Amino acid sequence: MCGIVGYVGRGDAVASVLEGLKRLEYRGYDSAGVCFKSEDNTLNLYKKQGKLANLKRALVGVDHFSHSSIGHTRWATHGEVNDLNAHPHLSDTLTTSEMISIVHNGIVENAKEIRDELKGQGFSFKSDTDSEVFLALVQREIRNLSESEKPVVAVCRAFKYIRGNSAFVVQGRNFPELIAVKRGAPLVCGNSDNRDDILVSSDPYALAGVVNTLFFPHDDTVTVLHSSNDVGSMDPVIEFFDLEGNATTGFDTKQQLIDVTTTDKGEFEHYMLKEIYEQPKLIRSLRDYYFSPEGQEMLKNSQEFKPERVHITACGTAYYAGLGIKTFIESIDNIPCQVDLASEFRYRNPLISNKDLGLFISQSGETADTLAAQELCKERGLLTAAIVNVEGSTLYRKSDNNLLIKAGIEIGVASTKAYTLQVLTGRLFSNAMAGKKLDKVLGERFLLLADRISDLLAKVDMIKEIAEEIYNYKGYFYTGRGKYYPSALEGALKLKEIAYVHAEGYAAGELKHGPIALIDEEIVNIAIIGPELYEKTLSNIEEIKARKGVIVGIGPEGDDSAKEICDYYVPLNFKGLEELSPLYVNVANQLLAYYMAKFKGTDIDKPRNLAKSVTVE
Ligand code: AGP
Repeated sequence: MCGIVGYVGRGDAVASVLEGLKRLEYRGYDSAGVCFKSEDNTLNLYKKQGKLANLKRALVGVDHFSHSSIGHTRWATHGEVNDLNAHPHLSDTLTTSEMISIVHNGIVENAKEIRDELKGQGFSFKSDTDSEVFLALVQREIRNLSESEKPVVAVCRAFKYIRGNSAFVVQGRNFPELIAVKRGAPLVCGNSDNRDDILVSSDPYALAGVVNTLFFPHDDTVTVLHSSNDVGSMDPVIEFFDLEGNATTGFDTKQQLIDVTTTDKGEFEHYMLKEIYEQPKLIRSLRDYYFSPEGQEMLKNSQEFKPERVHITACGTAYYAGLGIKTFIESIDNIPCQVDLASEFRYRNPLISNKDLGLFISQSGETADTLAAQELCKERGLLTAAIVNVEGSTLYRKSDNNLLIKAGIEIGVASTKAYTLQVLTGRLFSNAMAGKKLDKVLGERFLLLADRISDLLAKVDMIKEIAEEIYNYKGYFYTGRGKYYPSALEGALKLKEIAYVHAEGYAAGELKHGPIALIDEEIVNIAIIGPELYEKTLSNIEEIKARKGVIVGIGPEGDDSAKEICDYYVPLNFKGLEELSPLYVNVANQLLAYYMAKFKGTDIDKPRNLAKSVTVE
């Protein structure tokens, strides 16, 4: 969702903010802006619809050297995509003490109510955003400050009016510090070791390479970032307060784990492709990690879990990973398991009890719906566990137990490696919950999966050729049965999000109950033919074929009868992979989606309308 970067310090603030915003491009955005303070303290605003390049163009020829700047990449929620609705928002009051600018990530749920109240008090609004109400609220509270009160008090007072999950950073003409505040939205800050650069952002990645120790303020904590130009060498450059203005320890500290040098695309044209190719190595290192004493320690708690039921909640790809993990929990642990879309879970008054376990799956650990589901489970007294990639994320911090998927940073908006590692971590979790030790057989199966994926990647041209043949059809059905059904759903999601074509994942046997009406020679069926329910799957394919649908089979190697009924065929060696084989199939789906999108010429790493981490409900 929206990306925030703020800088105060001795260096070039705008350059640092632009670099941070560039790093946050992967999260998805539709406009970008910066506000910087010039030597005479005036606040200068530049913001543009579209890519960061548009903003940079607008800054050409502008003297933007500054020691204080805030910047933003916007993913529109309230108000259409245009320059005016882009952030930062800057007050146009003539009273210099009230001249402030703000950036915002999240949704102000009571924006209309506040806007109406403030209009009645003479405030006017330039944009259609919910964010601008916070700007006006802070202005009003600055106006009402007593002489001895500092601007941070105004920010605290203004924030108390805000409902919903939001993070803001405020910059003021009349005060040197940046003031940040948050509830339910990610925020992180830190300073360089020499204290010259002080940064705040919505994502630790923006701080990588500059800040080693990260501070994550808790909800309702206000963070004040002082410029090293303005404080003495012993004074803190970052301070934390509660909403009453008292100093607080309401923050977590963590070492920066992201190394910028490992995050370039290298020889790959897109991050998505790079991340697909990383999978064999990551599977091997996940296995090594969980076989090591540190990994065993992480799994230890899971061995104590004896829940009556497990409730998995997640969104998108992570939800499909949850469907895969459900099959492990039910077959290995013999525990009933339900998988819910996090956006629906809390609104259906779920029947959950404090004897159950709430399991949350998320790459980012910042998905608002998943966090809300977690909160509900906590309120109802459930023990919680998370399968998560980003250590230190909100989900991670709020879970009673965590299992890290160790995927490294995932930059492609379309999740690939995270899915594979989520499902594998779920496999390890179900093993531990069943009270089993990690055995050689399971370890070897992980290694076999890594090897098979490597072999498939080496034969990528075969998939590329199929992609070239089929990328221009009208619609696509991904079908699978049993344990391959989640792979069908995930395959269709991948294609939709990066190739912008209609695709649906279906249980193969369900097509004849309705969607088969859509089948004709312009529809492609990507049919997963697993070793189980084999004959029934082939009959389902025949039904599509009889209606002239084009068939791409992904099925057993050396199987001529399967190959014969398909127009195109991706042979896979399923032997020995057992319950892990859907992940092998899924890599074929990832490659197919990637190359179809490439033939279509879409923006694969930053698909339109999408955000990497969905921090609004
Ligand atoms: C997957 O390709 C997505 N872009 C999306 O569905 C994603 O999986 C979902 O938003 C959940 O994100 P999370 O794993 O960070 O919680």
